[in-house]
Amino acid sequence: MTIISPSVLAADFSRLGEEAKKVELAGAEYLHLDVMDGIFVPNISFGAPVISAIRKSTNALFDVHLMIVDPQRYIDDFIKAGADIITVHYESCDNPLSVVRYIKSKGIRAAISVKPATPVDVLFPMLDELDMVLIMTVEPGFGGQKLIPETVEKVRALRKYLDSKGMKLDIEVDGGITPENLSTLTEAGANVIVAGSAIFKAADPEKVVKEMKNI
Ligand code: DX5
Ligand code: ZN
Repeated sequence: MTIISPSVLAADFSRLGEEAKKVELAGAEYLHLDVMDGIFVPNISFGAPVISAIRKSTNALFDVHLMIVDPQRYIDDFIKAGADIITVHYESCDNPLSVVRYIKSKGIRAAISVKPATPVDVLFPMLDELDMVLIMTVEPGFGGQKLIPETVEKVRALRKYLDSKGMKLDIEVDGGITPENLSTLTEAGANVIVAGSAIFKAADPEKVVKEMKNI
């Protein structure tokens, strides 16, 4: 089953609680929370206090995507804020696996993300310790970009490798995803779909969530 994870980066920041509730009621199981520090990526978004404020408005699973350097410094803060799944970037930590182990030791699901230029096979040796892999389909940092078509092949290669090992990991994709290109990604093997602009910038976000879930 395809899981939809609406990214609040594209939502109305003055009404985050309502926006989160709206997509949950439409059937989105996750809520994607993009944390950016202005160093790992050239943009600043929000941090743990904002996530903790939204936590009161929805029961969706909080899918926290950390685009920050040395994320291990803040894992406890994001767990306290209500994270259910924490994704760190392969490129942002000296030892991604030790961060994953720490997250999992706290009873939280852990994922590693790779930017478009990072080959997905760097993750092959650590897959058995992960709950999910996040394959970026745009350069991280901003919402509203166009999906980079070459990234779809990384999804396909990872799913093929997982199948060959009999492993059932989630593959999440993030960036430039719309109802029009969604099936290309699910056919390649992705099962967790992040969408920001396509949902929150639409005239009827609920309708788009339902439409994406049915593809
Ligand atoms: C980009 C973020 C994405 C972003 C997706 O760095 O990780 O989650 O919000 O936004 P859209 O769906 O608009 O590309
Ligand atoms: Zn994201």
